[in-house]
Amino acid sequence: MNPFRKKKDVRPDLGVLLSEFNRSLMLIVDKPLLIANFTSRIKQLFPVESVCVFLLDESAGKYKLQNPDGGRPDIVLTPKDRLVNWLSVNDKYLAVSQRPDILTYFSEEEQAILGELKTELIYPLKVMNRINGTVLVSRKTDGVPFTGQELALFSLLLDQAAFAIEHASLYEIQTERVKRMYRADRLATLGELAAGAAHEIRNPLTAIRSTIQYLGRDLAGDSVRQEMVAELIAETERINRIVQGLLSFARPSELHIAETDAEQLIGQALLLLNATLGKNRIDVQFEYFTRDTRIQGDGEQLKQVFVNILLNAIEAMAKNEPQQERTLIISIETGAPVNLYSRYLLISFEDTGEGIGREEIENVFDPFFTTKEEGTGLGLAICYGIVSRHEGEIEVKSVPGKGTSFTVKLPQQYTQNKPPHESKNINSR
Ligand SMILES: Nc1ncnc2c1ncn2[C@@H]1O[C@H](COP(=O)(O)OP(=O)(O)OP(=O)(O)O)[C@@H](O)[C@H]1O
Ligand SMILES: [Mg+2]
Repeated sequence: MNPFRKKKDVRPDLGVLLSEFNRSLMLIVDKPLLIANFTSRIKQLFPVESVCVFLLDESAGKYKLQNPDGGRPDIVLTPKDRLVNWLSVNDKYLAVSQRPDILTYFSEEEQAILGELKTELIYPLKVMNRINGTVLVSRKTDGVPFTGQELALFSLLLDQAAFAIEHASLYEIQTERVKRMYRADRLATLGELAAGAAHEIRNPLTAIRSTIQYLGRDLAGDSVRQEMVAELIAETERINRIVQGLLSFARPSELHIAETDAEQLIGQALLLLNATLGKNRIDVQFEYFTRDTRIQGDGEQLKQVFVNILLNAIEAMAKNEPQQERTLIISIETGAPVNLYSRYLLISFEDTGEGIGREEIENVFDPFFTTKEEGTGLGLAICYGIVSRHEGEIEVKSVPGKGTSFTVKLPQQYTQNKPPHESKNINSR
């Protein structure tokens, strides 16, 4: 319903409209749901083609498009670039067709984005003097320019939306923080338990293996028993592999920090998996948004992280039906600053596999959590340990039936590059 399209003398009750709008937004704390709700309400009020919401992603240091609404999901705006700068200095909306002079002030990339999204109005989402995002509204479908009254109502609604989004973002950050603390705690306890158990299993296992070998010595000619012995030995080897994996999760080897290059490490990991990728007809695509892919870290251990994540992606996509897409997108970008001396490097692996369910996703980093018949459930637990010891983070997002993305966030410079009073023992947990 467009409030301005009612009979001429019937004015919409602005107070009621605003309070309804506000109430409906304040009840929702889930950010994607909130954005969907608020954009659909805007579209009910104004006949516009699209309403695109960009929000600041602190870790990537960019404004990311939250609801493609006809645009590409990977469109980003950069805080240092001109559009955000203009919004923050002028603190008001911009009607593009009324101010073509300002449009030419924006960078070429920004102009291309505005063109692609057929943008007519640009609104800042500002809370506490900070631009948290921007909303790009397209032209009206009937081609009629926005009236002054419509623009004023838009401003009021978007000011309210800015607060609701800030509220939902804080809620999201807080929930994520609690989850992370809970996960770190749980993994530390599990790690200690696992290390104790692994240690206890190793000695009797060696004894069992050598006894089986001893008993199998005099079985020449008895092929049935020889086969049984071989099977037993294979099983002890499997237990041994699990124990080794457990130990590398719980009692990790020291980090050998050196200058290395994430792009090269990914290249080496892909080379190791080349045959499996080919066999499963997986198309690997790269999206590198930075040239500086250097990091300080333990190359071998980080390579293991990438191999484990890649293997999971391959295993997930190998289950796809032949007609389903099998694409793996690897992207690298520079993220937010870690401190005065370093920034994060964000490395993402996005697959088009079966995805992970809402309940399972909470457990994927737990040792022994597996949904695979032959899996040990240690791959991601090991990744988590290695990334944490690099003072980084690992995150997972998934849409069941569509795909999964793992993002590894690593400081480009290691702690030894901080001033002496800030440096820590890099191998301490
Ligand atoms: N890319 C992915 N797509 C779908 N599910 C995944 C993906 N990555 C991980 N998982 C889920 O997380 C679980 C745990 O992964 P993890 O790598 O720790 O163990 P695993 O792959 O089962 O066994 P292992 O790595 O020891 O062979 C997997 O069993 C799977 O259910
Ligand atoms: Mg795995």
